[in-house]
Amino acid sequence: MISSTLIILQPDDWHVHLRDGSMLAAVLPFTTRVFGRAIVMPNLKKPITTVESAIAYRKRIKNFCAEGITDERLVTTNKFNPLMTMYLTDTLDSNELVRGHAENVIIAAKLYPAGVTTNSVSGVTDIKAINPLLETMEKIGMPLLIHGEVNDPEVDIFDRERIFIEKYLIPLHRQHQGLKIVLEHITTADAVSFIESTNLNICATVTPHHLHLNRNAMFQEGLCSDFYCLPVLKRDHHKQALRRAVTSGNPKFFLGTDSAPHPRNRKETSCGCAGIFNASHAIESYTQVFEEEGKLDLLEAFTSKNGPKFYGLPLNQSRIVLEKKQQLVPKQINWIAADHKKISLVPLHAGKRLLWSLKNIC
Ligand code: DOR
Ligand code: ZN
Repeated sequence: MISSTLIILQPDDWHVHLRDGSMLAAVLPFTTRVFGRAIVMPNLKKPITTVESAIAYRKRIKNFCAEGITDERLVTTNKFNPLMTMYLTDTLDSNELVRGHAENVIIAAKLYPAGVTTNSVSGVTDIKAINPLLETMEKIGMPLLIHGEVNDPEVDIFDRERIFIEKYLIPLHRQHQGLKIVLEHITTADAVSFIESTNLNICATVTPHHLHLNRNAMFQEGLCSDFYCLPVLKRDHHKQALRRAVTSGNPKFFLGTDSAPHPRNRKETSCGCAGIFNASHAIESYTQVFEEEGKLDLLEAFTSKNGPKFYGLPLNQSRIVLEKKQQLVPKQINWIAADHKKISLVPLHAGKRLLWSLKNIC
């Protein structure tokens, strides 16, 4: 059999949850095995709201890289560059953003409407009230990363992204034309149309799970919490719109896995956590989408060029080699932490075959 290979610039993950402590140790090697840089979400149990806490968190991540955590075939690498973000709150002092930017610690700030998702209780309760923060960010050129959903129990959960765009994002963009914005993990045709209609200051990240799955996945063979994430999976035509957008070559769409690990027992319970762990096979998952759409030639722009261009960062110099070689995704990934605690994660595509495998970085 002739095996085909694909060589692309090393990708970055522009949206990932690395967590902390033993979970950080468990998931970090999966991100560092392929991504050169990653934008690390600040929604820890105690969110990152100061420059000091961002520096300390970055140090914890880098320490694990240096220690060289191994997980069978994975080794963390010292070259990995975690890019830190600040968690916006009603009371955050804009000087903290200015200092974080000036000291080259904080690359962007994250807006979680309060209560909208995991660890967002300290998020923003009134978007208009953070206007001074947004003005500061516009002035210093710091991008705003948005979890674009309303947290209104009156609004149907499947409509929360569309309503957020109409009610908050359009006015916000109008008022802050110069503010760079990433609408994170978009899930709807409405978001795609909005991004396509705006200037280059607003871009969007797209996850592998929203490109592969529609909302049926949550209810296929009984209630399946593995596929519960926020924003929640939508109807198939939304998935199709996302697939068209990412494979269109439009530089406004780029890779952001939103890999969000929760231990299996915290998902398979009443009131299970939102989040899908996909870091273990993310690049292979995206590659399959581009192949299915007949657009493998546009994969590299989405995974490795559009993101750095938006953030004004250089492209990675290394390349990765992907080969057309089937692999079976494990049903569960286990990790025994230093304190002997066992963590079990169910990865995206668990028990399924993926058609591509990562061969090496060169
Ligand atoms: O599904 C999600 N999980 N969506 C988010 O916005 C947060 C994330 C998490 O931190 O678990
Ligand atoms: Zn996220």
